[in-house]
Amino acid sequence: MNNLMINTASKSYPIYFTQDFSGLSKAIKGINKDYSSFIVITDSNVGTIYSKQIIKELQVFEKNVLITVFDAGEENKILETISGFYQDMIEFGADRKSLVIALGGGVTGDMAGFTAATFMRGIDFIQIPTSLLSQVDSSVGGKTGIDFNGYKNIIGAFYQPELVYINVFTLSTLPNRELYAGMSEVLKHGFIRDISYYNFLKNSVDKVLNLDFKTLITMIKWSCQIKKDVVDQDEKEQGLRGILNFGHTFGHSIERLKNFELIHGECVSIGMHGAFLLANKLKLITDTTLNDGLDMLRAYHLPLQVRGLNRDDIYNDMFHDKKTIHKRLVFALLDDIGKSHLSTQLISKDIILECIDELITL
Ligand SMILES: NC(=O)c1ccc[n+]([C@@H]2O[C@H](COP(=O)([O-])OP(=O)(O)OC[C@H]3O[C@@H](n4cnc5c(N)ncnc54)[C@H](O)[C@@H]3O)[C@@H](O)[C@H]2O)c1
Ligand SMILES: [Zn+2]
Repeated sequence: MNNLMINTASKSYPIYFTQDFSGLSKAIKGINKDYSSFIVITDSNVGTIYSKQIIKELQVFEKNVLITVFDAGEENKILETISGFYQDMIEFGADRKSLVIALGGGVTGDMAGFTAATFMRGIDFIQIPTSLLSQVDSSVGGKTGIDFNGYKNIIGAFYQPELVYINVFTLSTLPNRELYAGMSEVLKHGFIRDISYYNFLKNSVDKVLNLDFKTLITMIKWSCQIKKDVVDQDEKEQGLRGILNFGHTFGHSIERLKNFELIHGECVSIGMHGAFLLANKLKLITDTTLNDGLDMLRAYHLPLQVRGLNRDDIYNDMFHDKKTIHKRLVFALLDDIGKSHLSTQLISKDIILECIDELITL
């Protein structure tokens, strides 16, 4: 099977790139452990469509399978939902040799990973990410977690899966809005790191949007590879990894102020517009580069502006970001398409406000 190995300090694991679930049991056998039972954690949308197929693939193991389903949505990425999983697992008779299977988008992956990391001090888990965002973003990096009292991802653990199984066919049932939102992280990888990837994405708009599986596999693998290269060079999130935050300083602020009205990838797209403007105003990139970048966002149906927000609210909220260092805003700045660095200088409030002005409409 087409795969990519991820090597971390604690373990190495493969990410498989496929277009059906037929290789799943073989992939699990490849872990080489004798699991006592399987716990599939999934959300109400994904579970309805795919849990039967997963049960079928697990039949060869002749072990008990628990399917535990939560109501889809970020608002349920909370401790109460996790408590429900623990309860279900105890009643089911899960033990140290059970395998947790995350079947769903990033919300499912974050919660299933956190459950596996904490149940009986840690049991094995695998990821079957089904949204584009989770396939390109949460497959690499080992972050798991939940929101608490409105603080996003504030409780969590670094915990690596035994494997990640990506079946691009699942993208055919993903709502278009979620598909486009996932593309903003994909485009980000090209912008910050790899001009050939950027050119590939520029030439593949129709194929990607029409879900040509071969193109999707190439794209998702390439994105995972870029994220892996960045994370490998900076596991502890000290420096380089910050470039993955391109567009997120503006984006997170818009996301918080819009209070889940816009989804993450949409806010990141608006935020990347801001980051392109900033690099242009700082004379790092030309007008042509700026316009090329924005054309790419438009080609993938991503928004560039947000309605009804106030410039000062966005600016002030930017300081609430976890990534803010000593109350100074840190930006991932483009030097060109495919090249970026983290800002070290203080960037003036006026310039940031000028960028924000171009992101808001009435
Ligand atoms: N751990 C990490 O490294 C990491 C990285 C990025 C994001 N995240 C987290 O991921 C979450 C966002 O992920 P997301 O955008 O996947 O959200 P999500 O899991 O809520 O999925 C988005 C929506 O799409 C539906 N869906 C997913 N796959 C589907 C499919 N194949 N068919 C039909 N419907 C499908 C879901 O039910 C949901 O309604 C956030 O909580 C974020 O914090 C984590
Ligand atoms: Zn993001």
